[in-house]
Amino acid sequence: MSDVDELRAHAPGRVNLIGEHTDYTGGLAFPMAIDRGTTLTGHRIDGAIRATSSDEDGEVGFALPFSGDPASVEPRWGSFLAGIARELGVTRGFDGHLTSTIPAGAGLSSSAALMCVVALALGFDGDPLELARAARRAEHAATGVPTGVMDQLCIASARAGHATLIDCRSETVEHVPVPSDIDIVVRFVTHRTLHGSAYADRVAECTAAEAIIGPLRDATLDDVERIDDQVIHRRARHVVSENQRVRSFAEALERADYPEIGRLLDEGHASLRDDFATSTDVMDAEVARLQAADGVFGARMTGGGFGGCLVAITRPGALTDGWRVKPAAGARSLAADE
Ligand code: GLA
Repeated sequence: MSDVDELRAHAPGRVNLIGEHTDYTGGLAFPMAIDRGTTLTGHRIDGAIRATSSDEDGEVGFALPFSGDPASVEPRWGSFLAGIARELGVTRGFDGHLTSTIPAGAGLSSSAALMCVVALALGFDGDPLELARAARRAEHAATGVPTGVMDQLCIASARAGHATLIDCRSETVEHVPVPSDIDIVVRFVTHRTLHGSAYADRVAECTAAEAIIGPLRDATLDDVERIDDQVIHRRARHVVSENQRVRSFAEALERADYPEIGRLLDEGHASLRDDFATSTDVMDAEVARLQAADGVFGARMTGGGFGGCLVAITRPGALTDGWRVKPAAGARSLAADE
């Protein structure tokens, strides 16, 4: 085996700072890749993928090119590898081992990280948007959940020291510096899976709202008033107000207005809890506790919801439990000593 066959690649997880459940209606989202993620080591081989994982049971193995149904691959985590292999249509695979510092099912995009790192191991060499699109299609094939592009685009394109302000309609990214005089703290609450959750219902409810008032991205709160159905009304109100919160958050970050940033986080959580119904009682109680703590500017649930993680923005050192995450670079191949 020559050195050229050696593989070492890493993809970060992400925490969404604000802009939740906006991506699949072409809205605005503001996630940040974090200094936790998934690493793959191994070597290239012809005609197959073989993989083990420190966090998952069983061994994945299938022949390339893969043209079957990714969702039918066992063990279950192998369907993500099969999804991306089918997307890329490759015949050269790898024999590798995965390790991760993001728990699966925690709302930190472990699945998007997995697919991006596997794509790199399969020799993907397109631009970040192409990677994000391929990983998103692969995730749909693997899980059947109609997720947006936020996670993959953040993980594929992130820049160290920056958060990624994403316009999910044009699929463009602006890298926004993250100040170093605040802490961004992620706290894990409970596991969840979007498969079988109300995630797909929320997507359908947004589609129903758009059938009445047009694209939510262009709608105003006055437009939302025209929706009579109270559930659809509330879902639309969340998305329209959340897009505005993303804009306000980005402006407040630029002028280092941390009280305003905190207020927007708190308001975003209330909107997810009351209008979008993706929080849980346990998460609400934890968020309330964080919001009341000394030195915390604001806190909210982050990610798809129904469990997962919370994010808080605080004065340095204000919270001692949870992960103080740093803005990290996107998915990349690693040098041997990294
Ligand atoms: C999950 C999905 C994303 C996005 C978020 C909610 O993370 O993968 O596309 O919809 O939920 O903001």
